[in-house]
Amino acid sequence: MNCRICSNSQIVPASFGNMPIANRFLEEKDFIKEYFFPMAAAFCSHCKTFQLVEQPKPEMMFHEQYAFFSSTSKSMAKHFQKMASNYIQNYLPDLKNAFVVELGSNDGIMLQHFAKAKISHLGVEPSQNVAAVSKEKGVNAISKFFSKETATEILKEYGPADIISSANVMCHIPDLNSVGRGVDILLKGEGVFVFEDPYLGDVIEKTSYDQIYDEHVYLFSVQSVANIFGRHGLEVFHVEPQETHGGSMRYYLCRKNKRPIQGSVTEQLKVEEKLGLDKPETFRAFSKSCEKNRDDFVALLKKLKQDGKKVVGYAATSKSTTILNYCGIGPDLIECIYDTTPLKQGKYSPGMHIPIRSYDYFKDDKPDYAVLFAWNHAKEIFGKEQEFLGWGGKWIVFVPEVGVLEADDSRFLHAI
Ligand code: TMP
Ligand code: ZN
Repeated sequence: MNCRICSNSQIVPASFGNMPIANRFLEEKDFIKEYFFPMAAAFCSHCKTFQLVEQPKPEMMFHEQYAFFSSTSKSMAKHFQKMASNYIQNYLPDLKNAFVVELGSNDGIMLQHFAKAKISHLGVEPSQNVAAVSKEKGVNAISKFFSKETATEILKEYGPADIISSANVMCHIPDLNSVGRGVDILLKGEGVFVFEDPYLGDVIEKTSYDQIYDEHVYLFSVQSVANIFGRHGLEVFHVEPQETHGGSMRYYLCRKNKRPIQGSVTEQLKVEEKLGLDKPETFRAFSKSCEKNRDDFVALLKKLKQDGKKVVGYAATSKSTTILNYCGIGPDLIECIYDTTPLKQGKYSPGMHIPIRSYDYFKDDKPDYAVLFAWNHAKEIFGKEQEFLGWGGKWIVFVPEVGVLEADDSRFLHAI
């Protein structure tokens, strides 16, 4: 297949086998009609973009029943509060006349701060159920996919945007050229387009291949972002690494030659060169590391099963769908996954059909081992789960490598 961005032909370094929709937790009656697609990732050596070869139609992933609500995590709520303050302090000199647009505003976790401060804003959120939750928080939102046409409509109704922001959304959009054209229409001359997504550098460094799933059609680097949006008259003038989602990058873009390029950009480009993010060999080696990680993980779970241990999963994240299906791990090795999201409870995990139990039962069931699927929230989880270690429970992790954590987790926290 050809690159989704620049149409060049490209290599396919990593195949992950058949995958279901990562966020489609299902009932037993739906097992028979479950949808699978062959998941493979490819690297374009021309524009340096890491991308999925095939992807299910957006309508299959982001729909009325979309199960992802941003506000389920406290640390994310704090993260987005800081993001809003940063925009207000550094990028919106005229608050009275400011207009902020968020692409993929989810349940309003970020825009609610603009709603509270009575700053003009608009959320563009294709999933109606999450958009409805944001409206309850006073957030102004429309249920649409962002494109040139949507941008034109918004411009007519509200005028140009000072900030177009998005978090964990750009990596979901196959047609980024359409987004680029939309941003070019909607952004003020001096405006800023800011987005953050899981960072390719972290994925390569940590072998965190669970970032690769149907929704994440891209994993970006600074080089790829510069190439993708450079086609639409934009340039990256600043970048900021983020701890969220196991390692993300925030990219600040403006129209070409409107702002000085900050040192953060050149520094990060050096890091990327060291990591080899511009070379196909890096992705071949990554593919091998994924295979090793899978073999180690399955071997560990089989051993624990033989020893008669009770092994469960902690948090039914979308990322866990890649791990479980790629490794072929079902309820025989992980008997259930505890999760706090009511929409997932009582259902089964996509593909491997592990039962999802309400988090309320975690303490009663007293498992011996819990696989930390939400490893990106490790700090928050370790903080609130001291009792688990108290009854002799142990965490199983698979990032950056497979292992069992004893009470002392500082080395692990440092490594992620
Ligand atoms: P994600 O943000 O990494 O995709 O994780 C989201 C899922 O993890 C969501 O279903 C809620 C669940 N979760 C828990 O069950 N307990 C927790 O402590 C955390 C942080 C998340
Ligand atoms: Zn390309």
